[in-house]
Amino acid sequence: MSFSSLVSDLTYRDRNGGNDDRRGPMSRQVSTMSRARSYASTAATSVSITGDISSQLHGGYSHPLARAWQAERQLTKSMLIYPLFITDNPDEETLIPSLPGQYRRGLNKIVPFLRPLIAKGLKSVILFGVPLHPDAKDALGTSADDPTGPVIASIRLLRKAFPSLFITADVCLCEYTSHGHCGILREDGSLNNALSVDRISDVAMAYAEAGAHCVAPSDMNDGRIRAIKLKLIEAGIAHKVVLMSYSAKFSGCLYGPFRDAAGSSPSFGDRRCYQLPPGGRGLARRAIVRDINEGADIIMVKPASQYLDIISDAKEIGKDLPVAAYQVSGEYAMICAAAKAGVFDLKTMAFEATEGILRAGASIVVSYFTPDFLDWLEN
Ligand code: PBG
Ligand code: ZN
Repeated sequence: MSFSSLVSDLTYRDRNGGNDDRRGPMSRQVSTMSRARSYASTAATSVSITGDISSQLHGGYSHPLARAWQAERQLTKSMLIYPLFITDNPDEETLIPSLPGQYRRGLNKIVPFLRPLIAKGLKSVILFGVPLHPDAKDALGTSADDPTGPVIASIRLLRKAFPSLFITADVCLCEYTSHGHCGILREDGSLNNALSVDRISDVAMAYAEAGAHCVAPSDMNDGRIRAIKLKLIEAGIAHKVVLMSYSAKFSGCLYGPFRDAAGSSPSFGDRRCYQLPPGGRGLARRAIVRDINEGADIIMVKPASQYLDIISDAKEIGKDLPVAAYQVSGEYAMICAAAKAGVFDLKTMAFEATEGILRAGASIVVSYFTPDFLDWLEN
């Protein structure tokens, strides 16, 4: 019924009621009251008083708490993992120009830096080694598992300084190889998968044995999840180490600021023969299935906001696993730049992007916004 026919219908009913003497002296008043009531409810629900009540949604989210209840997962501090860049120069604390507010820090700087964040509720970090020493790099990435190198030393230091902090170590060779690729190369410059998997799994073991709660291979060599899991089992520590696979890691331009920060740009070529092509949704699904079958405990999708469909696929394929998403350096830098240019408010956008990532299916988010969220979130 249209609004205008509804009004004429009410007028008609009113006229009839008013003329009916059998209603007694009060009848006029009663009729007016009931007309007023039905008029008010009609006006408030203009489109569908006679029909579809399910079209009335506003009431369900009028209160801030009722709005929070609309999300399947609400962002909490325990979902966040904060990336840290650790150098081999102990006193270094250098701002990374392409990553606003993020620093490369030496061993002596990380405990004082983390203490207030942990007091505010930081639960977890992911460590990236940044060797600056002139001869730290070679063709095999030898310094990746140097027991005195920044990653192993910081795992030991952080385990001791902050017993409740969950420590993830990113596992890759690109920060440590002279050519900047994520594995060991053949003479023609392509990845030697077998040698790379051998080396990557040794590096993962070294981090796990140093005390990392979680090892996260980001190299994208085929079969490295199985190799790492087998070595963890063999060493008798598989029961206490989380294996988080960067399963669906796409190639593209969003890792630029990270590569500035970590000094890990390839010296020739690119990573398109091992990181996934941006259109490769099916390939990503295959990689996710494979890594689950090889023993991954957590599946990661990276980047995040440009790949929300992949996050959703990961959650569907890996219903029984936590799905992590990495909001990478380029996503973070883009949001900071746009906020600075006045496009939007930084905090509002940081929430909107992160809530989108959760809505897609992630329950863990690696985010450079983590310190901000510790201020912004209550729980
Ligand atoms: C190392 C690694 C990279 C990132 C995480 N681990 C860089 C790359 O693959 O080139 C990217 C993280 C970011 O951009 O924030 N393999
Ligand atoms: Zn790499």
